[in-house]
Amino acid sequence: MKVTIVGAGNVGATCADVIAYRGIASEVVLLDIKEGFAEGKALDIMQCASNTGFNTRVVGVTNDYSKTAGSDVVVITSGIPRKPGMTREELIGINAGIVKSVSESVLQYSPNTIIVVVSNPMDTMTYLALKATGLPKNRIIGMGGALDSARFKTYLSLALDKPVNDIKGMVIGGHGDTTMIPLTRLASYNGVPVSQFLTDEALGQVAADTMVGGATLTKLLGTSAWYAPGASVAYLVDSILNDQKKMIPCSVFLEGEYGQDDICIGVPCIIGKNGVEQIVDVELNDGEKELFAKSAAAVRTMNEALSN
Ligand code: NAI
Repeated sequence: MKVTIVGAGNVGATCADVIAYRGIASEVVLLDIKEGFAEGKALDIMQCASNTGFNTRVVGVTNDYSKTAGSDVVVITSGIPRKPGMTREELIGINAGIVKSVSESVLQYSPNTIIVVVSNPMDTMTYLALKATGLPKNRIIGMGGALDSARFKTYLSLALDKPVNDIKGMVIGGHGDTTMIPLTRLASYNGVPVSQFLTDEALGQVAADTMVGGATLTKLLGTSAWYAPGASVAYLVDSILNDQKKMIPCSVFLEGEYGQDDICIGVPCIIGKNGVEQIVDVELNDGEKELFAKSAAAVRTMNEALSN
């Protein structure tokens, strides 16, 4: 199985590293426009293999798309990340041009690939990739919900003082500080709703911390995060390549689901070898429906910037 990651920066290289360590794919191609950069990252990762025991071949290339031929999955992380005080939305102009040209280039060599879009503002970039390539909607997947849900579960684990792997939780809606929706009502610890253990106030704090989870890290690090984003992409790629059929909230094209049309936004999906295999219809209450409609309206406004 072959994965190409376009953009060998913080998120792309971390993703390659996790894919190699966990043996998710047999070959990873890292591609970047910065001369020699992807080659350097790939060699560094490959030199971990004998001490950590993986066999994945990691190859770095500078803008040579011929080396990406036959990829089963292509991950797009190329673009600029946030700086402190910036929103994901402010990245739109530069990243739109990059995402469009990259998706067209990868398809020349891997016409059957599934594309995972990571570059921000991710929901809008996913929509753009879908429209620019004309690919069927199951083959364009935006990664945001996997990360936001991981952050949600981390904050729940800290508040509950319980192991994160016993906690279930999901974040849907847009991948933005004000648009994501941590579904606190449906979160559980060993199958029991977390509301049995946490006050409304504590749960509200968990939701608030989750929503600014990325911004908190951007402030601390001076640029946007990469360990959890890279691992979240790898988790999604694993479910595709190894046909795990995990339920993962992803930004996908909606045609009536959750009351929305002609938009890419985060909803729970079954992810397997065909990409998005099913959009799962989780019953939302009235408050959650209202939040989802507001979130979709904000994403739609962002999408309008594409035609400017
Ligand atoms: P970074 O700056 O470390 O890496 C980006 C890389 O893309 C650079 O190495 C750059 O040379 C390369 N690049 C730029 N234009 C290119 C092109 N046309 N072709 C190939 N490579 C190109 O940035 P980082 O931190 O890795 O973030 C990447 C993107 O992912 C940003 O847009 C960021 O906002 C987004 N992101 C999305 C997340 C999500 O959950 N969806 C989470 C974290 C970051």
